[in-house]
Amino acid sequence: MKKLESFDFKGKNVLVRCDFNVPISNEGQILDNFRIKMALPTIEYLVKEKARVILMSHLETKTKKPSLKYVVPELEKLLGQKIELFPNYLGKNARKKIGDIEQGRIILLENLRFNEGEKNNDKEFAKTISSLGDIFVNEAFSVCHRNHASIVSIPKYLPSTTGMLFEKEVKVLSKVSKKPNRPFVIIIGGIKTREKIRPILNILKMADHLLLGSKIGEAIFSEKGILIGRDFPQEKLINELDLTNHKIHLPVDGIISLEGVKEGYLRKGGIDGLRKKEEVFDIGPETIRVFKKIIKDAKTILWNGPLGIYEDEKFEMGTKEIANSIVENYSAFKVAGGGDTVSAIKKYNLINKFDFLSIAGSAMLQFLAGEKMPGIQALK
Ligand code: 3PG
Repeated sequence: MKKLESFDFKGKNVLVRCDFNVPISNEGQILDNFRIKMALPTIEYLVKEKARVILMSHLETKTKKPSLKYVVPELEKLLGQKIELFPNYLGKNARKKIGDIEQGRIILLENLRFNEGEKNNDKEFAKTISSLGDIFVNEAFSVCHRNHASIVSIPKYLPSTTGMLFEKEVKVLSKVSKKPNRPFVIIIGGIKTREKIRPILNILKMADHLLLGSKIGEAIFSEKGILIGRDFPQEKLINELDLTNHKIHLPVDGIISLEGVKEGYLRKGGIDGLRKKEEVFDIGPETIRVFKKIIKDAKTILWNGPLGIYEDEKFEMGTKEIANSIVENYSAFKVAGGGDTVSAIKKYNLINKFDFLSIAGSAMLQFLAGEKMPGIQALK
């Protein structure tokens, strides 16, 4: 694959796949611009090279797919130019319209996931988008675990390369996985348990200690039959996990409430004593104590996924304490990744205290686990 710097971008239409899947309030307010900021060096480089820059991304929360119009003001502020949102990019005259745009200007295609062709990896959808550009730049390492049209099919139709952040992410994560200073401590939390269980099996081989957060802990306990009456049907792989492996550290206690966090019901307790209808929303004090002791002696630390619902002060203690204990280990090489993880790090003003922050969460874990990632394969 040719490097970004070896392309001649002048006067070319350059399609840039970004990950602007950022936290957003119900009123459409961007709550954290980290992912947008991390894409800036590549976008600014293309502007300087006098390309016509065509940005594209998805934006999807647990319940909806908001318009990318909410991202436009933030982009305009950071890039210092007016940016047009382009909803009709599949229309007949789209290529001509883009051709009329001045060199060095930027437009943003509307949320790719508005069209089912994106997630279904529809060839026609990818071909039509590709026809708008001359060169494709993938700056969304965090989406490379997805078999989606903009990630795996556009590179079939256009000369393609990776953005500056993508390149750095691959470089740092390769280094960490191949030659970590030991002890190597990996901390995994978050709610996307389904995507994280498979990589965990391989990650366990490279780590000296694997610390698992509350939701993953709950999923593991339930699949192993330690907790009954809860259902994590997708996570049958958990059965391959040998819980007697001394490297695995599961939460021993948690901050517990009822499904949907019913007001007034809150208790600390052992995970193995969870009652029906109860759920774990944070790791508990004893788990924090054990995890901190392990983190203190680490020489390499990699963290993905908050340990609880850090946005709610009732359930933020685990994430806050673990974040602080990571940065208090001055001698370790410290890497964290994932949208929510970085937002939590930001909340506690610890952004500059990590050696590297990746925008990728699940993709980062799959890369570390040595899995073949569709988005990377497609660029080869
Ligand atoms: C992420 O937030 O991890 C990436 O943007 C991928 O999003 P997805 O899990 O909705 O595919």
